[in-house]
Amino acid sequence: MLPAHVILRGFETLPVAPEVVARLAPFLKGGDLDPAAFEQTVKFDPVLTANLIQAAHRLLEPGAAPIASLEEAIERVGLHRLLELAVGTSLRRTLPARLPGYGISAGKFWIHCIAVATLGEAIAQRIDLPSADLAFTAGLLHDIGQLAIGDFFAENMPESDWWTFGTPEDERTLLSCNHCDIGKLVAERWQLPLAVIEACRWHHELAKAPAGIDRGLNTVIHAADALAYSLGFKGVGYPGEVLDELAPGQLGLSAQELLDLAQGCRRAIGQNAIASGMGASLDSA
Ligand SMILES: [Fe+2]
Ligand SMILES: [Fe+2]
Repeated sequence: MLPAHVILRGFETLPVAPEVVARLAPFLKGGDLDPAAFEQTVKFDPVLTANLIQAAHRLLEPGAAPIASLEEAIERVGLHRLLELAVGTSLRRTLPARLPGYGISAGKFWIHCIAVATLGEAIAQRIDLPSADLAFTAGLLHDIGQLAIGDFFAENMPESDWWTFGTPEDERTLLSCNHCDIGKLVAERWQLPLAVIEACRWHHELAKAPAGIDRGLNTVIHAADALAYSLGFKGVGYPGEVLDELAPGQLGLSAQELLDLAQGCRRAIGQNAIASGMGASLDSA
């Protein structure tokens, strides 16, 4: 067993949000999005601008006319989707090659996050969740704690790449905290919307989730996580997240309806993976 205090020492310095995520955090809080303010935030980052234009183009139907500017990308793909892509793109730049302790490559990890984001958005829209606008972002970031923990192990125990923590409960037993606890701290530090912070913390523990949180979004992300595993878009190296028996009742959808909905999302998951530049990792997902 690893002494927890040794591991926890590393978390005293939680990862700082990539600059673009920090600048975009206020936009994620919802309300009316202002295209001019978004453009202003992104346009001084030429690499991000170029990536966004490319990503937006990949979301269009094959053969569509190329997109020439950020303004045009906003017009054709929509500001909201572009904002989600911007968060994903800038986070992806900070990914280590592997996440030691989770037995997973960065590519596989990212595809899992994209699958949960896509499925989460689809479920939230299906049930008319009031916070449906946050579902994609919450899905994309739900396992952000694994990045922080993986980063710590990559730096301090790179040889730990051959083993995995196991289930989230095993992880907490071993480390005294798990990626949900750490994910909450990271999300708070990055000033992400409260409902996203809560989903980072509670997506594996529906029964224990406090009454005051956005339970709808949390259950959506939990279900999306379980469905991502069942579609083969697996996250960390354990057999997989199983759909909590509370989830169908809370969502008003049966387990079979959820599975059918997930099957219908395969193409969108692939499209979003390709748009985020991770198409090559789809084969190994
Ligand atoms: Fe998780
Ligand atoms: Fe996950």
